[in-house]
Amino acid sequence: MKVTVIGAGAVGATAADVIARNEIADEVVILDIREGFAEGKAMDLMQTSSLEGFDTRIVGSTNDYEKTAKSDVIVVTSGIPRKPGMTREELIGINAGIVRDVVTKALAVSPKAVIIIVSNPMDTMCYLTYQIAQEMGISKKRVIGMGGALDSSRFRYRLGEAMGVSQNDLHGMVIGGHGDTTMIPLTRMATWNGIPVSRFLSAEQQADVAQKTMVGGATLTGLLGTSAWYAPGAAISQLVEAVLRDEQKIVPCSVYLNGEYGQKDICMGVPVVVGKGGWSKIINLRLSNDEKAAFEKSAVAVRAMNDALKAI
Ligand code: NAI
Ligand code: 2OP
Repeated sequence: MKVTVIGAGAVGATAADVIARNEIADEVVILDIREGFAEGKAMDLMQTSSLEGFDTRIVGSTNDYEKTAKSDVIVVTSGIPRKPGMTREELIGINAGIVRDVVTKALAVSPKAVIIIVSNPMDTMCYLTYQIAQEMGISKKRVIGMGGALDSSRFRYRLGEAMGVSQNDLHGMVIGGHGDTTMIPLTRMATWNGIPVSRFLSAEQQADVAQKTMVGGATLTGLLGTSAWYAPGAAISQLVEAVLRDEQKIVPCSVYLNGEYGQKDICMGVPVVVGKGGWSKIINLRLSNDEKAAFEKSAVAVRAMNDALKAI
């Protein structure tokens, strides 16, 4: 099993690290445009092999796509991250060109790969990748945007904090766009081992958890001076594992919608079944009227970002 991670920066290198430490793939190729950078990251990570006890091979490449050929999964993290005060949406001008370039080159040598888009604004970058994949005759089911996996982990963190219990006993999903105002934490459906969290949290506490979840990325950007990487890297690894091990796991991911959730011609976060070949099925949740309205509002914002893409 071979995984390519494009972008050897904070998020890409962390994803490679988690994938290797858990031996999810036999080989991880990290590719970056910066001369020698990916080779350096790969060498540093390989020197943890005997310390951590893993046998995954990590290879670095400066823009040589031949080294990525025949990958089973491609992860796209190349592009600029947000700085304090910036939204994910402000990155579109630079990142759209980068994503278009790297996706075209990577899919040309790995046409059977599942491609996971991470670069922001992620839903729009995913839509752009869907369009490129269509032109290349690649199924929409092989194009997955990573946002919901991370946002859901932040949701479980905030629920655990509010309830004083282990995050691992809490289940909850975040759907909608991967943006500070567009994501939708599904508090009504969140449970503590199957028991609705509304039994343990007041309406005010639930609203506070949802709000803190939504600004989760911005909170970290404010603290770190750039966007986060540990949880994003682990969330990528979770998705890569679901694909390579054909786990048939439900993960909220940004995928191309063709009428599902009342939306067409857009990529947005919805629960999908992930396994070999990418996503196989969209799970149609029975949303309340408020949740439906939030999804519609989120779609309007994501669509506006997609329109900005057309103008570039
Ligand atoms: P970073 O700046 O640490 O790394 C980005 C890397 O991309 C750099 O090493 C840069 O040299 C490389 N790069 C730029 N253009 C390239 C090209 N044409 N080909 C190959 N490599 C190229 O940034 P970081 O923190 O790793 O974030 C990466 C992206 O991921 C950002 O857009 C960020 O907003 C996004 N992100 C998305 C998340 C999500 O949940 N979807 C979570 C966290 C970050
Ligand atoms: C995050 O959520 C900025 O998308 C990035 O951390």
